[in-house]
Amino acid sequence: MKIGFKGEKLSEKLFLATGILPEMAIMPFFSTVVSNAYLTAQRLDIFSLLEKNSLSVKEVAKKTEADEHGMRVLLEALTGFGYLERQNGKFQVSRAFRKSLDGNMSEMARGMMIFAPDIAKKFENLDKAVKTGEVENFHFTPITPSSWSHYLTFLKGVSKEPTKALVKKVKFDAPPRKMLDIAGGPAQYSIAFCRKYQNLEAIILDLPESAAAGEAEIKKAELEGRISYITGNFFETDWGGDYDFALLSNMLHCLTAEQCQTVIKKTFESLRPGGLIVTNDVDFPGEDEEIQMVAGWSSLLYFTMMGTRTHPTPIIEKWLSDAGFTKIKKTKIENSAQLICRK
Ligand SMILES: C[S@@+](CC[C@H](N)C(=O)[O-])C[C@H]1O[C@@H](n2cnc3c(N)ncnc32)[C@H](O)[C@@H]1O
Repeated sequence: MKIGFKGEKLSEKLFLATGILPEMAIMPFFSTVVSNAYLTAQRLDIFSLLEKNSLSVKEVAKKTEADEHGMRVLLEALTGFGYLERQNGKFQVSRAFRKSLDGNMSEMARGMMIFAPDIAKKFENLDKAVKTGEVENFHFTPITPSSWSHYLTFLKGVSKEPTKALVKKVKFDAPPRKMLDIAGGPAQYSIAFCRKYQNLEAIILDLPESAAAGEAEIKKAELEGRISYITGNFFETDWGGDYDFALLSNMLHCLTAEQCQTVIKKTFESLRPGGLIVTNDVDFPGEDEEIQMVAGWSSLLYFTMMGTRTHPTPIIEKWLSDAGFTKIKKTKIENSAQLICRK
């Protein structure tokens, strides 16, 4: 998958097919304006305002305490980009954008929309980060006072479909009884596994902010007796032991290569003999293999947010093998790779 221009009219499609347009140079120039318009609208709460109401420029400017001229230009631009529609001088969220916000993937779309301005703020420092290699991990230095709440809404929003797919993908010889969910976030994966396996008890390792959100989710799912947290930095907490199954979903990318190896070794020690470890992260290729758009995109995002990266899947495989895991099997769900193996 690549990002690029998509023609709507036949004449536009034909023009793009000629290849005359220097698309790779023009695309970032155009998308900078589009993405900044979108981020500004989100920061000013324009989308939630125009999702429920059809309003004039004057009314939007008044409600958002903004300048009327600036607001007019922004609303017109968002209309040109397809996010808004204008009728009789009033603006509202377009039918096309409403489809994203109300469709099957609406939780994912809304989660991304909420967290996007926080991500943009971190990207302001990318030059410095690349030059120095130093990045403050947003888990420990929050971007804004609301960024944790935005991040947790994002995590809940984006995990719905992948959670279902992962639970289907992982097969056990016998139903598991004790699961360790390392960096389990707001409990989505533990809840899904506990729903499938009636006698499963899950322990989640995570920071206090994720644990607080997860405890509310566990209560909603009526699984309070079966899922609990060991709260704190998992480099400092006691993980317990004798687990049948350990899940490391979307967490190795939060760590440096050295930290990943420490966590994998510690996971090995925490499992019972024969226990299963499952890693789940964006599939990043080994040296000299083709780097797909999502792999490069995710890695730069994680570097910008935490100073880390998407670790190449063959390297994770080596870390697992070095720690003593055997029978390593790789599976794929969309752009993510799972490595499933045994102690
Ligand atoms: C990207 S989320 C993954 C959540 C979930 N496993 C998933 O697949 O959606 C990363 C999680 O790691 C947690 N985390 C990051 N560093 C941590 C640390 N040092 N100790 C404990 N939790 C940590 C964050 O709080 C967050 O909930």
